[in-house]
Amino acid sequence: MGMAGPARGAEATAVDYSSVQNLFTQHCLDCHAAQDPEGNLVLESFETLMKGGESGTAIVAGKSADSLLVRMVEGSLEKEGKKKIMPPGKRKKLSPEEIALVRSWIDTGARAPKETPKVARELVLPKVAPTVPPRRSIQALAYAPGAKLLAVARYGEVELFSPESRTVVKTLSGHRGMVNAVAISQDGKLLAAASGEPALFGEVRLWNLADSSLVRVIEGHNDALYSTAISPDGKIVATGSYDQKIKLWELATGRELLTLTTDGRLGVGTTAPTTQLEVNGGSKLGGASAPAIKMLKFTGNLAATQGQSVVIVTGVPVAKMLAVQVMVDYTGNNNWMPASYTDAQYWVKWYSSNPDAIILECVAGHSAGIVGLPYRVVLTYEE
Ligand code: HEC
Repeated sequence: MGMAGPARGAEATAVDYSSVQNLFTQHCLDCHAAQDPEGNLVLESFETLMKGGESGTAIVAGKSADSLLVRMVEGSLEKEGKKKIMPPGKRKKLSPEEIALVRSWIDTGARAPKETPKVARELVLPKVAPTVPPRRSIQALAYAPGAKLLAVARYGEVELFSPESRTVVKTLSGHRGMVNAVAISQDGKLLAAASGEPALFGEVRLWNLADSSLVRVIEGHNDALYSTAISPDGKIVATGSYDQKIKLWELATGRELLTLTTDGRLGVGTTAPTTQLEVNGGSKLGGASAPAIKMLKFTGNLAATQGQSVVIVTGVPVAKMLAVQVMVDYTGNNNWMPASYTDAQYWVKWYSSNPDAIILECVAGHSAGIVGLPYRVVLTYEE
């Protein structure tokens, strides 16, 4: 990986793409990775960046001021009356120096990275011959009571050590990078060994302890793994990585089930077996074709007489309705409670006589105490 620095004071020197990619990797990949990218823009490589996103081209070579991506990281773009800035929300923005680096890469021609990325990602280090045998650190230990073996995690391998005979019975090799964590399934049959190269990738290798055969290799993180666990039923393996993600994988197939990120977003593997859930705009269970779960909010004051409608919602077919929540400020003093709070005998019901309209109304005879009060209604439905 080339690490060309920003071309400070030398505008004519073309900036190497790799330093721009480093910024994207650091600030953008949580939302713009190949799996379920926001705005359909993938910021994993030069090729995907130049493909652009939902709005088309993100980079205009030679013209940083005209490039959508620059306008979005500078916050100089408005969409539907709202200022757009990337990364959005409370996330740390790019510094003026970082923006200048992106701009100068674009203004010097938005050139492709010099070396084409290698297919197999390996960390290339200068060869420094050790003068004494290097120490082989132990990164993690796990004991398999059935097999009476201790798994000893080291660089590139896991030793199966017999505490009884005090010998290494078997060496499981082929792990890439430092093996930082080992876990044994509750039935004692499987060993999960998590490793990886910093800033490159993480992998977990699953071994059958009975015959030391490799069951599966799962790779998917963008950094080394530091923890792993197997669910008590032996069906799911969890991996934790320095890329700030926790992922769950189906052990039998190796498919990704779920991603948890530090900002509380929940991503769901595109091949997840169940259906229909979108969480905070994150990925959907069941893939892109699964319906999203949406919400509508209504506020206002209840009518002054009982039996009057509160909200009439059209355009959400009854068949797609999932839930209605009604809160009423029953003292008019920010004292919100469910409208059907039984002790108080206050009622709002929802029903539909028309399959395309949801009607919420105060119930005659029960809602006397809440007529005229402020309400909030949230409707949850399937898109
Ligand atoms: C927390 C999630 C998040 C992060 C982090 C994030 N983005 Fe975005 N990005 C979005 C969302 C959501 C959209 C689409 C909706 C919109 O336009 O606001 C988007 C859209 C975009 C678009 C417009 C794509 C198109 O074609 O419409 C660009 C360009 C963009 N982001 C650049 C970036 C860059 C560069 C970074 C990192 C410096 C970044 N984003 C970091 C969430 C994120």
